[in-house]
Amino acid sequence: MESDDEKFGPLLPGFVQIEPPYCYRCPHEKSGYPECDLPCAQALDERIRSEGPQTVAAFILEPIMGAYGITAPPEAYYRAVGEICRKQGILFIADEVTTGFGRTVKLFVSEDWTPAPDILCLSKAISSGYLPLAATLATEAIYQRFLGEGNQFKHGSTANGHPVCAAVGLRNIDILVNERLPENAASKMG
Ligand SMILES: Cc1ncc(COP(=O)(O)O)c(C=O)c1O
Repeated sequence: MESDDEKFGPLLPGFVQIEPPYCYRCPHEKSGYPECDLPCAQALDERIRSEGPQTVAAFILEPIMGAYGITAPPEAYYRAVGEICRKQGILFIADEVTTGFGRTVKLFVSEDWTPAPDILCLSKAISSGYLPLAATLATEAIYQRFLGEGNQFKHGSTANGHPVCAAVGLRNIDILVNERLPENAASKMG
């Protein structure tokens, strides 16, 4: 079978992947968690070591993998990979573009993770789709690294900080939170 690189390549240089935590057809040929001891998470540790930890900036994961068939790993996977990131001194990034803002009966899948992600990627339900809007949230420590002379965050886009989209996003978040929509969705799950 053609790999993604062959079908869509060349992929973004400088990024390496590990096999996804996909229990239904485990790439590590295990029968399932908890018997397996999460080789999918250990693969992260091994890959960082083989690449050289000093060359790895961050690990990005999508908590519920959309393009992989809306599949979620065992809850323990999040802690395991988060701890590996901490131990190896790399940033832990959760891409919650699809899952954020109440789409999984929680405001964020990662809201109670330990360790918590260092960066959250957000979009889609941040405005409930009414207007295009995205945001990247970072910890105070990361924010502080961009302060001071010569340290500005050099990144921009055409519609950066669009006031109408931002106003719609703020109002949408008010509604989600004040009307307790994630909790309401959770109460319908029975
Ligand atoms: C998980 C995930 N991350 C990122 C993106 C890209 O988001 P955007 O279109 O806001 O760049 C998507 C788009 O569907 C997505 O599903």
